Amino acid sequence: MTSAVPGVELNSGTTIPQLGLGVWQADDDETERAVTHALDEAGYTHIDTAAAYGNEEAVGRAIAASSIARNDLFVTTKLWNADQRGRDAVIEACDTSLRKLGLDQVDLYLVHWPLLDMDRMKRTWEAMQEIAESGKAKAIGVCNFEPHHLQVLIGEGDVVPAVDQVECHPNLPQNELRAFAADSGIAVESWSPLGGTPNSGWGKASKDNTLLSDSTLGGIAEKYDKSIAQVIIRWHLQGGLVVIPKSVTPERITQNIDVFDFSLDDADMLDIANLANNRRVGIHPDEMNIAAPDDDA
Ligand code: A2P
Repeated sequence: MTSAVPGVELNSGTTIPQLGLGVWQADDDETERAVTHALDEAGYTHIDTAAAYGNEEAVGRAIAASSIARNDLFVTTKLWNADQRGRDAVIEACDTSLRKLGLDQVDLYLVHWPLLDMDRMKRTWEAMQEIAESGKAKAIGVCNFEPHHLQVLIGEGDVVPAVDQVECHPNLPQNELRAFAADSGIAVESWSPLGGTPNSGWGKASKDNTLLSDSTLGGIAEKYDKSIAQVIIRWHLQGGLVVIPKSVTPERITQNIDVFDFSLDDADMLDIANLANNRRVGIHPDEMNIAAPDDDA
């Protein structure tokens, strides 16, 4: 198995491994086992968690027990919506995540959702910049920001987010957002890269995964003697996306990084492009305001 994961350079000057392990919807035991397998057996060096996932301590335990040196690891966590209550709350939330992870610094700290109140968002982003300046995060970024949200931050003349992590997969290739991000020097990371789970929508817009049983992808997978998941992961990698497939199953965790010994050709990429149908498994960012603080908070 060849598993040399390439890096993507971020506008912060640091480099993110292009493939990592996501742990959303994994409980503590599953997370600790999955991260341990990923780091110590499968060759991953990049783990993506969030305060809202409730499993940062489990990620921290697996990192502490791993033989991989901290400098060789890339760890991302995210600021939850309820903590967008001004500077002190944002900084306290970051400190809490660091304590749970058992780290002095994360490689990437992301705002989890834009919320509807963009004034609040701007205050959050100022605090995020303070976090980066203090060295608690090597890079800062956002998740689920549409171009109109990004424009607000960029327009302020402040630090441009290093990353925008969004729902992205062959049904929802996010071409417009990716073009905007490329022009702005923002790397795009794909969540639910395999098409998600029936619960990808925070209990709202959830839909079944149809990509993992798609016949076009099945045909391509057969051609390369790979799985559909591996074909989808190649599509992300060849499109320049950073990809964080979630799995708590050791064989799948190993399989999902075993994608560096084949390439999709132009015809495959075109066939996959034709699967675009704007089908989201998660919530549209313009509709997401879960756990948003009250106006006076
Ligand atoms: P599990 O964690 O039980 O292994 P996404 O990253 O798009 O949200 O998709 C995650 C879902 O896909 C999870 O339900 C995960 O299941 C499943 N999954 C992850 N890797 C594979 C794989 N290689 N083959 C099939 N299903 C996979």
